[in-house]
Amino acid sequence: MKSRYEAAKNVFIDSIDIDDYIELHTSITAYKQLEHSIEKPLKMILLFGRPGTGKSILLNRIKEKLKHQKEIHYFDTPAINEKEFFHKLFKVLTKQDLPKNTEVNFSALVDFCKNLRGKREIIILLDEAQMYGPEMMEKIRLLSDTRAVKFVVSLHKTDDEDLIAKEHFQSRIWEVIELKNASKEDQSTYIHKKLLKKNLFEIANSVKEKNMKFIHAFTKGNFRECNKLMFTIFEICEYYDENEPNKVNYEKLSKRIIEMAAIKLGYIDV
Ligand SMILES: Nc1ncnc2c1ncn2[C@@H]1O[C@H](COP(=O)(O)OP(=O)(O)OP(=O)(O)O)[C@@H](O)[C@H]1O
Ligand SMILES: [Mg+2]
Repeated sequence: MKSRYEAAKNVFIDSIDIDDYIELHTSITAYKQLEHSIEKPLKMILLFGRPGTGKSILLNRIKEKLKHQKEIHYFDTPAINEKEFFHKLFKVLTKQDLPKNTEVNFSALVDFCKNLRGKREIIILLDEAQMYGPEMMEKIRLLSDTRAVKFVVSLHKTDDEDLIAKEHFQSRIWEVIELKNASKEDQSTYIHKKLLKKNLFEIANSVKEKNMKFIHAFTKGNFRECNKLMFTIFEICEYYDENEPNKVNYEKLSKRIIEMAAIKLGYIDV
């Protein structure tokens, strides 16, 4: 028989599924900020935060919400080369395909955008923008200067390089929205709601307040780390459920299992 923990485990597979979006204090605030910024006559907006803080899902959420009112486009991972990027942009702006072997004439594209000013307003959500080089960013800026295209640039911050400090970003900082790790309360809501959405009431109930504290201590409220830890916890529960059911307490998640998962993921050194 399939363990009930299999479904619980799968709830925490890292993915960007907009139907699984959960309203949390911090995500509501960031969403409102972003929506508000998009309304302002800004040319570029920066969405900033450590990996796994929910930038991609927020961009997808805003696109879903605004797509019927606005011309809004989401660009996920940067194109492998500049040519491909400009082809994509060309299509969005002109609503036409450019033959594959032709190059986009950049200054013509800028002129085209200048003509759009006041007629159309196109919003481009650029995810993973740390991967765009300085020349690309400069071109993006030139396009945004036409005021027909607005860019939301999403960057992730890492320990060794503070990208925001890079000259090509810094000199054009417009408005910054920073996403942070979740608070303990938000993380608890996240875990419970994720499980409840899949009707896993009993399992959701078995993750108690104390467990939440423990989970938050390991993951620091990072959504990606939280997904990894929860996945591993339920993977262990699944194993016991199938092989040594006397070791699982269906009413209360045991601290020991969280610790085992934490060891497996290297949060605890042994
Ligand atoms: N409010 C939320 N509702 C539902 N899921 C969320 C929410 N916030 C974050 N997540 C989940 O957390 C995980 C990490 O989020 P996401 O991929 O958006 O982070 P990111 O900031 O884009 O990370 P990276 O910088 O590595 O691209 C995803 O699985 C995402 O679905
Ligand atoms: Mg992302």
